[in-house]
Amino acid sequence: MPDDIITQSSDDQGILSGSCLPIDQEPEILSLRPENFSDYIGQSEIVETLKIAIQAAQQRKEPIDHVLFHGPPGLGKTTLAHIIANEMGGKITVTSGPALDKGGDLIGLLTHLEEGDILFVDEIHRMPKAVEEFLYPAMEDFAVDFVFDKGFHARSHRYKLNRFTLVGATTRVGLLSAPLRDRFGIFRSLDFYNEQDLVIISRRSAALLEVKIDDKGAWELAKRSRGTPRIVNRLLKRVRDYAQVKADGVITKETVNAALSLEGVDEKGLTNLDRRFVKTIIEFYNGGPVGIEAIAATLQEETDTLVDVVEPYLLKIGFIIRTSSGRKASEAAYRHLGYSVQKKLFQ
Ligand code: ADE
Repeated sequence: MPDDIITQSSDDQGILSGSCLPIDQEPEILSLRPENFSDYIGQSEIVETLKIAIQAAQQRKEPIDHVLFHGPPGLGKTTLAHIIANEMGGKITVTSGPALDKGGDLIGLLTHLEEGDILFVDEIHRMPKAVEEFLYPAMEDFAVDFVFDKGFHARSHRYKLNRFTLVGATTRVGLLSAPLRDRFGIFRSLDFYNEQDLVIISRRSAALLEVKIDDKGAWELAKRSRGTPRIVNRLLKRVRDYAQVKADGVITKETVNAALSLEGVDEKGLTNLDRRFVKTIIEFYNGGPVGIEAIAATLQEETDTLVDVVEPYLLKIGFIIRTSSGRKASEAAYRHLGYSVQKKLFQ
């Protein structure tokens, strides 16, 4: 099981968490992952950039430039890395920043790569600095420098690597050091998917799982998935169970609504943790502005979880606003949670 998988998720976030959970590694869920560009829906500009880079590299008989993907969890960074490997006809080795404890771990992976292979490093911003330094010559010159002995007796030996492509993924590009960031030839940010694309993904996944879904059911599922394909696929499994046990097996708007109410997912796809986040700003901090550390302390949640998993979607739908003095709840958030907007404006 890859190291980035969160084995204990927050009770509140559950299957609505964008983060990778054990369920995402189940064969049935993995089978929904598109394997090439022709099956990949959404992120059209990124797909176009990658297709051109791959075609050009193949014509020149070179590996493609190193690629860095940035964006919230669940939007397809890992999927795109697998697709690049498939389209390039190379193998992919998957690891993550926190799993690379020592320089030796990384060297072991690098020396086993063949020409044109992909090394995928998830959460690359969490790679230790000492390991990162081995990556610089590997990315730039396709070489690693072994250092023997220390101090006066230190000698180094350069070991040639096969030409490979590093694909890095991060939820926090700001935490990447400039020397590492600058060594990627292609840098793209993935954005949340629009509802139309999520509807197509819902239909595609339902067809692969051999479950019937009608048009309104697909739209409702798309609406409640926080702009995130990974969440579409997780919710689809829950709704499939509900439709099988409580209805005639067909996924409709009604079965989606009933099944997802049981999961604590509201009409906008918000979870309990999302709602608690916004309510904390409104009730404890008078609508904000308030610093993220204060919100994390009140909620007794990790700041990183709030910044990486909870906030991006709330920012996207305009429920919170980030200002230089902290986070504020928007009027739309007040309305959605049933607070009087008048009350806020006159306070
Ligand atoms: N499943 C998960 N993400 C997908 C995507 N972008 N396109 C098609 N199916 C998906």
